[in-house]
Parts: sequence; structure tokens; C-alpha cells
Amino acid sequence: MLILALESSCDETSAAVVSMSGDSRKILSNIVASQIEVHRKYGGVVPEIAGRAHIEAISGITHEALDTAGAGLRDIDAVAVTNSPGLIGALLVGMNFAKSLSFAHGIPLVPVDHVRAHAAAAYLEHPDLKPPFTALIVSGGHTCFYNVRDYTDWDYVSGTRDDAAGEAFDKVGRVLGCPYPAGAEMDELASSGDPDLVQLPSPALRDSMDLSFSGLKTACLNYINGVRQKDAEPDRCGVAASLTKAICRGLTDKARECLALTGARSLVLAGGVAANSHLRRCMREMCVETGTEFCVPSVSLCGDNAAMVGAQGYYEFMSGVRAGTDLNAHAD
Ligand code: KG4
Ligand code: ZN
Repeated sequence: MLILALESSCDETSAAVVSMSGDSRKILSNIVASQIEVHRKYGGVVPEIAGRAHIEAISGITHEALDTAGAGLRDIDAVAVTNSPGLIGALLVGMNFAKSLSFAHGIPLVPVDHVRAHAAAAYLEHPDLKPPFTALIVSGGHTCFYNVRDYTDWDYVSGTRDDAAGEAFDKVGRVLGCPYPAGAEMDELASSGDPDLVQLPSPALRDSMDLSFSGLKTACLNYINGVRQKDAEPDRCGVAASLTKAICRGLTDKARECLALTGARSLVLAGGVAANSHLRRCMREMCVETGTEFCVPSVSLCGDNAAMVGAQGYYEFMSGVRAGTDLNAHAD
């Protein structure tokens, strides 16, 4: 079946057409209009500007996704849309557009959770992947482990008690002079830095399965400020490498604990921060060591995109999930 999917939860407007059936999962189109340039001068996403930019982009992006897929609305079997979590004004744009399409053309409407959609990106490139598995979703807004029992049956296991890992990369990167969002540049800087330059606290809590990134972020910022107070500039590559080492170790340790707890034989790593080359390597090594199958989407499917919404939307549709024009959006 063909699914038209829409995503507008943060600063990317995206529309995709995916073809899904029992044993085949194909992306026919996946158009992403990023607002990064618009928000960059403010150092982060401005929710009102994001909502307005989604309104301007969504219609054109949807037509482009259909044209690229060689499909018309009459070929579409379901419209899947992210309706939570995210910025409320941003979510409302995609959701209301999806509702209109569904109502006007008589196509079933399927609401999709953004965090579940990130993990579903892995289905699109790993044809044999199926639940149960453990999922680690690590992005600008989330850092959580889930026990995925079935395609639509998930249990929250543990996660951050404060900031997300992506936020730590973005905030430290910003102070080091990297434009928003800093994650990709921090990844590059870390590749040529000394990971032992700064001794940093682990984000992995000792007495729980949870993580905490706020102390790590503050320790990094204190180090940078301390160097600057002495009229020097910190070694950006070394700071990035030290932060990356702490984040990768913390996430890998907790992933190991989580796999032991759930007994899962596969780990899915997904979300914007899953694009991090160091994190991908550390997780892969841990999975080889523990005999766990490791699935991570390619970098282009780690960030926000609608194809992942279509993939999860298919499984929601198959389990009977439908929404009407009274569907609402939720920030969390
Ligand atoms: O999933 P996503 O596109 O949006 C949210 O749902 O939050 O994730 C965006 C986050 C940002 O914090 C960005 O800096 C981070 O993903 N990111 C990275 C990398 N690429 C993007 N973080 C570390 N290394 C990267 N290569
Ligand atoms: Zn996301």
C-alpha cells in the first residue's frame, strides 16, 4: 500500500510517499525542506517562525513528494502525520494539512508519534528487522530507551532526566562558535581532538538506568569559561572530543544495561544524534562484543524526515489506528 506521510514537528517540513507491504518497504520520495538557515541567526529554533515557515512550505513539498513518487492522491491508501511530540504550532500545521487531505479525498488518516517514527526509519533500510528489539532514540529533544515488543506495542525503559544528548552537543558547540545546530560540526571537530583533554562527569547515572546530561554540559561550559578567563581560547577539537567521549560512553553503557534487562537480540539506534560517527562506531563495537544485531539508519534518515513517519504509519494503520477531524496535536 502507498502512504503519504507528513512531518512538521520542529524545523523541518517534510513529505514522503512510501510503499509498504508485508515484506517490502520502499521510499518512493522523501522531500525535506529545512528551516535551519532561518533559525541560525537566533542560535536555536524560534517556534513562531517555525510554524509560519511550515505553512509556506507544506503544500509545495507535498506536491513534490507525490510528483517524485509518480503518484496522485487517488493512489494513496493512507495519510500518516506526526501529531506529537514537538512544537505545538509546528505540529498543528502538518496535522491540519493532513486532516484536510484526508477529509477532502476520503483517505484514512493515521496519527504517528515522532519518537516511534525515528526508530521506524530503521525498517526502511533493514528489510529483515522486526520487533522485538531495544530502541535508543537520541535527538535534539529526546534521549530514551524503549522496549519495542511489537510494531505498535512499546514500553519506555529509561532515558534522560533533563537535557537531551543533542542539546548538550548544540549548547557546548554554540559556546565554541559552531552555528546552530552544532551536532555535525562537533562530530567533525571531535575526529581530530584529544578525548582526554577535559575530564568530564559521565551522563550515565550509577544508581538507575537513567541518564543526565545537564551536569556534563555545565562541566564543559565551566571548562571553556575557565580557559577564557585566562585570556586563552579552548582547544575546540579537544573539548568536542572529550564531550563526545563522555556522551558515547554513557549511552553505550546504558544500552548494554538495557539490552541485558530486556533480553533483546537487536538494538536500533535512531534520531538526529544517531548520525554521529563516533556514537555509531561505539554502539557497533558494543553490539559486536555482546552478539547483538545493530541497526542504524543511514545519516539522511536519522534527522527529521517524513519517510520514517510513513514507515511507522503503515504499522499503526495495520493495527487499526485511524483518526478523524477531531484529531489534536500534543507538545509532549
Ligand atoms: O532528530 P532531529 O533531527 O530533531 C529532533 O527531533 O530533535 O535531531 C536534531 C539533533 C540536533 O541536536 C543536532 O545537533 C543533532 O541532532 N545532530 C548531531 C549530528 N547530526 C545532527 N549530533 C551529533 N553528531 C551529529 N553528526
Ligand atoms: Zn526528531
